[in-house]
Amino acid sequence: MGKVRIDFRVNGSERTVDAYPMARLLDVLREQIGLTGTRLHPMQEAFAAAGGAQCGICTPGMILAACQLLERFPRPTDDQIREGLAGNLCRCTGYQKIFDAVREAGEAMQSDSFRAATVRESVS
Ligand code: FES
Repeated sequence: MGKVRIDFRVNGSERTVDAYPMARLLDVLREQIGLTGTRLHPMQEAFAAAGGAQCGICTPGMILAACQLLERFPRPTDDQIREGLAGNLCRCTGYQKIFDAVREAGEAMQSDSFRAATVRESVS
């Protein structure tokens, strides 16, 4: 099967590539778009710094739920964190480090430097 045209948005920019249908997204991003670096979201950095991830099984769900939580409550209380992460089960961390990570990410995302970077990305 030949290449197909794919239109998508990455890092706020519209992109078009011709790629084989079974190409891995990672390969398209690295080889065709030239995105070879990694940039962690403040939530990912906070989870790593606080030890909020151990085996990593629960981490993607925790991070997505936590990011959505911070959209509603930028500086959440423990009860709001508990409710926001409900349904995501962690068998490793005991939750305290996850709560710490969510609070740290909330503070980082309220910082002037994060807000400035977010505005720059949205207009580029
Ligand atoms: Fe292992 Fe959460 S880090 S289940």
